Amino acid sequence: MANIFIRSANGVMDWVNERAPALAPMYRKHMTEYYAPKNFNIWYIFGVLSMVALVNQIVTGIFLTMHYKPSAAEAFASVEYIMRDVEWGWLIRYMHSTGASLFFIVVYIHMFRALMYGSYKKPRELVWVLGMLIYLVLMAEAFLGYVLPWGQMSFWGAKVIISLFGAIPVIGGGLVEWIMGDYLPGDATLNRFFALHVIALPLVLLLLVVLHIGALHEVGSSNPDGVEIKKGPKGNRWSATAPADGIPFHPYYTVKDTVYVGFFLIAAAFIIFFAPAFGGWFLEHDNFTEANRLVTPEHIKPVWYYTPFYAMLRVVPDKLGGVMVMFGAIAILFLVPWLDRAKVKSVRYRGWITKLMLALLVVCFVWLGKIGAGPGTDPVETIIGRVLTFLYFAFFITMPLWSKLDKTKPVPERVTMHD
Ligand code: HEM
Repeated sequence: MANIFIRSANGVMDWVNERAPALAPMYRKHMTEYYAPKNFNIWYIFGVLSMVALVNQIVTGIFLTMHYKPSAAEAFASVEYIMRDVEWGWLIRYMHSTGASLFFIVVYIHMFRALMYGSYKKPRELVWVLGMLIYLVLMAEAFLGYVLPWGQMSFWGAKVIISLFGAIPVIGGGLVEWIMGDYLPGDATLNRFFALHVIALPLVLLLLVVLHIGALHEVGSSNPDGVEIKKGPKGNRWSATAPADGIPFHPYYTVKDTVYVGFFLIAAAFIIFFAPAFGGWFLEHDNFTEANRLVTPEHIKPVWYYTPFYAMLRVVPDKLGGVMVMFGAIAILFLVPWLDRAKVKSVRYRGWITKLMLALLVVCFVWLGKIGAGPGTDPVETIIGRVLTFLYFAFFITMPLWSKLDKTKPVPERVTMHD
């Protein structure tokens, strides 16, 4: 039986090979003959988990689109209908809405891994820049999606965020009207946001992910030691020319990743089944009430993954200044490959300054996130927010200095294996 199966599978493969001979070399280049460093640790699974999260968003999004109505009069009711009447609709919806938060969790960890191990350093600057473009598009995509259920926070969030463009001198007012297609978020806004959310940005995201992986595979993956395996000795048991410290991505890492994807899906299922709104962090309570342009929610705040940047916006007293600080906080991340002047990549071989600065960055980001999620009325918190914003920027602006000053340890010639 198994024999028949293998023979017919081989037959299909031969048939395809004859007609599209370029496919098999591509598969080999990216899978069976892509030699990844053998010392990947757990931090290296978050790229694959980001892909899983992306696929989940696309698949569940397709099913939601089958029942959702992109009009101000019907959107909220259509989401209620999905939750109550569509078979398994509640699950699909939560997989999508909670899935968005899980996506950001894995992407943030993935980005932090890059910072820790200097994955963005030469020759992987392009991989980082493409990653940053993914991050930008992802934020836009999540914002557009959040408006679609047309709850209170969808409406007021859209109003606040779109109005930010009003701070731009001269063209600001016209730009806000142009984005909304109205004087307030309304039918036109919802229609265009729907179009952008379900087709335009997902296409851009997919393209960017392909380029991101393509750029990575051109130069090869880095690893927790920051050793360039391509520069090391050659020859392993699969190939005489492959890096000695590399192992074929397939089957070795596909199997390893599958185990972690399993753990991730179990954890995701727990959250989706038992705490889909996660105490208001993943789905805000105000969004379970239909949008009403006459009633402003008590606190207008974005979802957690934007709150660090939202806090920066709020603690700056001037509107245009706040907008510039907020966008500047994201823009500065693009420059990391050129700001980091250290001779070694990985935190393993860097001194205490890098470790301290990375810890400081995490504290700033998380604390700002907490401040951004609050009402923003406490003056002491505003001062703390300003200090944290200052420290956040200081991390990057002074990076050329501290990354160079920090004492480094000698990097081994070959990768090391730790459990
Ligand atoms: C949809 C979102 C994303 C997906 C699907 C994705 C996917 C991946 C995958 C599969 C890898 C190889 C495995 C690994 O090293 O984990 C990778 C590597 C990498 N990613 Fe991403 N990524 C995403 C977003 C980002 C973002 C936002 C950044 C940073 C701004 C980023 C920066 C990097 C870097 C620097 C590497 C190279 C790591 C190394 O070789 O050490 N990625 N990505």
